[in-house]
Amino acid sequence: MKPDLRVKNKVFDFRNPTVLPSGFFGEKFEDMKEVFDSGAGAITLKSIGPKEKQGHPNPFIVKCDHGTLNAVGLPSPGYKNMEEFWKKMQKRNFPLIASVYGTNVNEFAEVAEFVAGKKPDYIELNISCPNVEKFGMPFGCDPKIAGKITEKVKAVAGKIPVLPKLTPQANEIGKIAKACEEAGADGITAINSVGPGMKINLKTKKPVLSFKKGGYTGAAIKPIAVRCIYDVYEAVEIPIIGLGGVSNGEDAVELMLAGASAVGLGTVLYSRGKTCFGNIAEEIREWMVQNNVKKLGEIIGKAHE
Ligand SMILES: Cc1cc2nc3c(=O)[nH]c(=O)nc-3n(C[C@H](O)[C@H](O)[C@H](O)COP(=O)(O)O)c2cc1C
Repeated sequence: MKPDLRVKNKVFDFRNPTVLPSGFFGEKFEDMKEVFDSGAGAITLKSIGPKEKQGHPNPFIVKCDHGTLNAVGLPSPGYKNMEEFWKKMQKRNFPLIASVYGTNVNEFAEVAEFVAGKKPDYIELNISCPNVEKFGMPFGCDPKIAGKITEKVKAVAGKIPVLPKLTPQANEIGKIAKACEEAGADGITAINSVGPGMKINLKTKKPVLSFKKGGYTGAAIKPIAVRCIYDVYEAVEIPIIGLGGVSNGEDAVELMLAGASAVGLGTVLYSRGKTCFGNIAEEIREWMVQNNVKKLGEIIGKAHE
């Protein structure tokens, strides 16, 4: 019998562990459908904010030797301006994670309450973006604020599971995860981009990105993601969507050994394209065959034993 790729626990129910993370094809229904049809287990929306917000001007993304720097700047139509989008989304046939952000604790709750009314399957809290000036990452560095945001969102989210998304910049990511769990979080997503980092053009002698600094993603950040997921798994009981630098099935298995129940595939999309979900799911299955693993439960968190 083929190994079973289904992710099924108290919180997640995905046909396989590959997840489209926030920030990649998470704005148009047609793109998300294509990603799901090509094999993804679940789909995350681009983070939705409180008001219409322009992103940073071009260039906002640049390829580096072993990853990508981006400072997209959380552009958003604003949650009140997405009616057409939500109409289309009601036709979806995939598990949907709606990512939200606010500029303060109350705004997180305001956006989450509205979005909860659109009945996504999960609400992810972007308390970890490194590319905006006044908000984002600092929330995810302070256990009190991370807990407060989680608590407020839980109060308005009804039965929809809430997943705070954590930053690797936190001094002790396990403490942030624990504070979120104590505030009622149903799961954790880890990690957001690392950084900020910077690239300087040797000809112009100026930073390449318009915002100068940006979040680092892709293959180079995988060891940091593995460590963060390991620390979060030690600290909490709730399940984890792990991501950061996954390029193939073996990378995904490594994040699961650290404690991830499901695995996001972000920057790899730039090199392997939208079809990488089905392909990487098959690579995970292949690894399971070779290692006599029948279901994912046998490997999740195995590095802790
Ligand atoms: C261009 C770009 C845009 C992103 N936008 C968001 C976003 O809106 N919300 C969010 O929570 N994370 C965002 N991220 C972070 C990713 O979801 C992910 O956490 C990060 O890229 C690490 O995974 P990876 O190495 O597989 O890409 C973005 C990343 C990139 C490269």
